[in-house]
Amino acid sequence: MTNKRVLYVAGILLSFVALALVGNVYLLSRLNDEPAIKVSSVRALENLIRHRVRSLKPSYLNRNPRFFMYRNRLLRNYKPAPYENASVIWDIVNWWPAENEIYPMYDSSMGQLLSTLSKEPITRAQNSPRGTQLKLVLKLANQQKVIFKPQWYGRDEVIDGPVYGGKDRHNAEIYAFYLAAVLNMRWTPIAVGRKLDLKEIYQKADQELKNTMLVQETSNGTEYCVYGKCHYCTEDEPVCADENNLIEGAIIYLIPGTLSRHRSPWQRTYKDGVRAAWEDDMNYCIPLKDKIDTTRLLDLIDASIFDFLIQNGDRHHYETRGGGLILIDNGKAFGNPNKDFFDVLAPLYQCCILRKTTWDRLLVFSGGTLTDLIDRMTKNDELYPIINKKHKQAVERRLLIVYSVVEYCLDTYGEKILKS
Ligand SMILES: *[C@@H]1O[C@H](CO)[C@@H](O)[C@H](O)[C@H]1NC(C)=O
Ligand SMILES: *[C@@H]1O[C@H](CO)[C@@H](O)[C@H](O)[C@H]1NC(C)=O
Repeated sequence: MTNKRVLYVAGILLSFVALALVGNVYLLSRLNDEPAIKVSSVRALENLIRHRVRSLKPSYLNRNPRFFMYRNRLLRNYKPAPYENASVIWDIVNWWPAENEIYPMYDSSMGQLLSTLSKEPITRAQNSPRGTQLKLVLKLANQQKVIFKPQWYGRDEVIDGPVYGGKDRHNAEIYAFYLAAVLNMRWTPIAVGRKLDLKEIYQKADQELKNTMLVQETSNGTEYCVYGKCHYCTEDEPVCADENNLIEGAIIYLIPGTLSRHRSPWQRTYKDGVRAAWEDDMNYCIPLKDKIDTTRLLDLIDASIFDFLIQNGDRHHYETRGGGLILIDNGKAFGNPNKDFFDVLAPLYQCCILRKTTWDRLLVFSGGTLTDLIDRMTKNDELYPIINKKHKQAVERRLLIVYSVVEYCLDTYGEKILKS
């Protein structure tokens, strides 16, 4: 009798233990219930997405009424404005950066800053000490240092080859600034277009820069060129001024503070026929989620959307400031308007998570309003139009692809993919 009772009690206890175990395993499996991508290859996913783009709901294709709330404020904020003393503006702007946010959402000094960058006299010019691409360091009005990236390509030139092919596109730097402002990823350097007198630059140049400039007599007069000092700079490939000694380029405001540099988990190999692990492993993001903190991962996913829209496939490293990601070096974007390198979006479709704020913001600028607005915001830039019609259409086409990928993730895993 007592034996039976002991057995009975033991049985009940065992059942509890078993239940607890099952429960734990269940919980653990729920925790590990990270979205495993259910499509076996990038190619298969790309096909699926291309298919989905054609059946997107009208809300993705039409204007969102919420757009009008943003339009006027953005137009007003980025309109070049008169100023009295550039020095005062730069003092304000150099205090703007807070972590990775380089400038505030709205501030009356922004329009004035844009004016200073396109108007203030250049008092000194040097080679930039670092980098693979030709850039100059200029001093404006004896005070503010800025970077100058010269033009290499005409607006309509198409760069074939790999996504990272060709030299820098100065206009991409300018467009990137405005796109980031509209998408509220205020993590890019402020950039404006400007035509410089290369003869004047020569006169203001230090000896080292002068040594990398060419001054040649032609039947038209004196021709000024610069090839600079950088990894890919050679005397055989200079940038030359036109018959009025002008070269166009982007003036890029230096970001104050300390930046740190990190290798991107989605780095390319930059070798023909050698593929990186992420290119073939659709589940690449699952172990990453344990290695990288979520904020950083969400930053990288935001960056991949930004880079996909402009087709910058060259973010092998990224910089951070105060813990947040910043998007500098956007010059490899806008190479080929006829091509969408889908794998630039890998962080988004492999992780299938996204900031809710980013998703909301993307939804505001549907129906062609994104590129229309940037077009209007850049009307007063000296280099307007910053990109041609084909590139604008390409940005809109890619936005629909982003919508489709997020829809795919929402359909597969539900609203939990949107993180606050
Ligand atoms: C501009 O402001 C600075 C102070 O920020 C001052 O030192 C300078 O004299 C001013 N320049 C002019 C031309 O008023
Ligand atoms: C001289 O200038 C004209 C236009 O002003 C241009 O068409 C021509 O190519 C120039 N020649 C040289 C040698 O730069």
